[in-house]
Amino acid sequence: MNLPKISTQKDYEKAYLYSLENPESFWASIAEHFVWKRKWDSVLEYNWLKPETKWFEGGKLNITENCLDRHLKTKGDQVAIIWEPNDPKDEALHITYKELHRRVSKFANVLKSYNVEKGDRVCIYMPMILELTVAVLACARIGAVHSVVFAGFSSKALAARINDASCKLLLTTDGSYRGNKITPLKDIADEALKFCPTIEKTIVYKRTGQDVNWGGNDVWWHEAIKNADDFCKAEVMEAEDMLFILYTSGSTGKPKGMVHTCGGYMVYTAYTFQNVFQYEEGDVYWCSADIGWITGHSYIVYGPLSSGATTVMFEGVPSYPDYGRFWGICEKHKVNQFYTAPTAIRALAKHPIDLVNKHDLSQLKTLGTVGEPINEEAWRWYNKHVGKGNCPIVDTWWQTETGGILISSLAGVTRQKKTYATLPMIGVSPILLDNKGGEIKTKEAEGILAIKQPWPSIARTIYGNHKRYKDVYFTAYEGLYFPGDGALRDENGNYRITGRVDDVVIVSGHNLGTAPIENAINEHEAVVESAVVGFQHDVKGNALYAYVILYDRFDASENLLQTIRNKVTETIGPIAKPDKIQFVSSLPKTRSGKIMRRILRKIATNEISNLGDTSTLLNPDVVQEIIDKRL
Ligand code: PRX
Repeated sequence: MNLPKISTQKDYEKAYLYSLENPESFWASIAEHFVWKRKWDSVLEYNWLKPETKWFEGGKLNITENCLDRHLKTKGDQVAIIWEPNDPKDEALHITYKELHRRVSKFANVLKSYNVEKGDRVCIYMPMILELTVAVLACARIGAVHSVVFAGFSSKALAARINDASCKLLLTTDGSYRGNKITPLKDIADEALKFCPTIEKTIVYKRTGQDVNWGGNDVWWHEAIKNADDFCKAEVMEAEDMLFILYTSGSTGKPKGMVHTCGGYMVYTAYTFQNVFQYEEGDVYWCSADIGWITGHSYIVYGPLSSGATTVMFEGVPSYPDYGRFWGICEKHKVNQFYTAPTAIRALAKHPIDLVNKHDLSQLKTLGTVGEPINEEAWRWYNKHVGKGNCPIVDTWWQTETGGILISSLAGVTRQKKTYATLPMIGVSPILLDNKGGEIKTKEAEGILAIKQPWPSIARTIYGNHKRYKDVYFTAYEGLYFPGDGALRDENGNYRITGRVDDVVIVSGHNLGTAPIENAINEHEAVVESAVVGFQHDVKGNALYAYVILYDRFDASENLLQTIRNKVTETIGPIAKPDKIQFVSSLPKTRSGKIMRRILRKIATNEISNLGDTSTLLNPDVVQEIIDKRL
């Protein structure tokens, strides 16, 4: 399904102005290209003081009819998904739209047979196997709300997410393969389920074939689908019905279950997919993210499939069997658009260039990055060695909350500028604010990023906590959406995202709130208190530095360090493990008892010559002690 394409810088400028002045007619003209069961009554209604945003109200649809059924006539035999297994010696799968439609329908019928109904929440804790996409779409088919939990999360993190959304069903696998590691997902899920009273059944896909404990509520996937019918009628959904919940870390407290709805999300992800990557019929597109994150939801599953594209799903890791795996996959599947994270680029750039050069990458047309600012060195390496100087790089800035890309160049169409995400997407109105919340009107500026008016895929709420949604995103600057990032703007209106302005640290592209990590560390019996900050890291972008106070009766041993790290792994997952843990006698605090993280951040990054004003500290002496023993 081809949406109107922007194909020159002039086109972009014209469409951009039009979209901001006439958002309703602009987005209606895009939405018309989709299959609706009933047309909308109004395109946009919003009030960001409440806050409330509604797109295509009155419209009825099912997103899977747009992702699957509508393609059957014209491209039923075209490959929808190329699935590349962890082990390159195993066979890749080429799943056509017809076959995907069949598998999704079959599994949707399985869900129904376990009494899953429209609006019920289903938790999906699965690795990057084809059935993960099947599960996601099967939920959407019957109007169940999927909540995908990244399969690297711990049992505690999984339980918290299942309980927050009162999920009815859990979908998982016996184990998962990543490189030469097997993770026992079913065991982790079993541990979580001890604390999840709402789960009625667990459907388990057999991937690794290892032994698993079997309970009365467990069902094998292959047995469940045996007698399921190949056809399942799509549930009729309102445009503003919930499509999915996806959790993201906040700077405080528990993870936020961002709620995305059907109509606007579908329109925006397809439109940005086609325009940012300049996808053309017949191209093979690969996004290396995991479907456990928003990038996978929007740009592996929904955006590409509703566009009728061929999308690649990769089960493994970039380092297995060697650091040339990504490029081997690009060659093998003749990938035309490749989308990854700066942290992956930095990790791969550390290895011999021959690992790139031995692969034929001549099919590549567009390269993309997402998740964190891309540094100049990584940008140059990606451009020179992977793109051979011929592929535009789209540096796409967006968030779990935004559902789709908000700032990016359009590949080969609008001008790129290295390390800049560049220009806002059509329909997106970023502004920069000063410390007092006033808009900075000069072209060249640095400030806090905010967005002025709604785009169709903005998350509508935090599941079960609309107040928190308002507090986090709409309270700092009245009437504006506050994403939590700082940015620079150059004289041509290009934006460069400079990083978070809150206590969220982006580690290897993963958005981690420091508060939950501190809570995990504090749960250790030896720990009185801790503070976690980010520091710059060559490969990960940022890594975590934890300052920890121990009770007197405990000695600072290597063993203790390990058990503290394990605590974080158990509570959140291995991605949140601090790289450095320094034991300290106390933490620098203000008189009101607030930890001065600004100082700790500077010490962690070795910027100790100018620590700024420390006079308001309750205990200024501790600063020198921490500096002397820094790691
Ligand atoms: O700080 C920004 C950073 O990642 C945050 C959003 O993280 P998450 O919700 O996990 O979504 C990541 C994938 C969309 C943002 O607030 N970020 C994301 N993309 C970029 C970026 N920072 C700079 N440049 C980017 N291209």
